[in-house]
Amino acid sequence: MHLAEKPFQKLILVCTNRREDGRECCAAKGSLEVYHALKAAVKAMDPHIRVSQSGCLDNCATGTTVVIMPDALWLGAVTQEDIPALLAYLRDGTPIPFSPSL
Ligand code: FES
Repeated sequence: MHLAEKPFQKLILVCTNRREDGRECCAAKGSLEVYHALKAAVKAMDPHIRVSQSGCLDNCATGTTVVIMPDALWLGAVTQEDIPALLAYLRDGTPIPFSPSL
């Protein structure tokens, strides 16, 4: 193996995992819609940030799970309404207005 070139400054993972067995999952909470909307908004704002789908990130009960790297910021219960706050954070570090934890 070798070190690869880093193509983006930040990587945002959105869990779009769907379970068909009735257990909680991010896809059942609208994560695919969050992924598509966030990807389009971030791409229009900053081409140095990549939004990608991920499999289960093991925070299923509080999905939609979103992880911002390299910030190591793990977010739960993310909805499309949170996208403006995420864009502000990514643009200039504006603190994200968190709700109380579940
Ligand atoms: S299904 Fe999204 S964190 Fe597990």
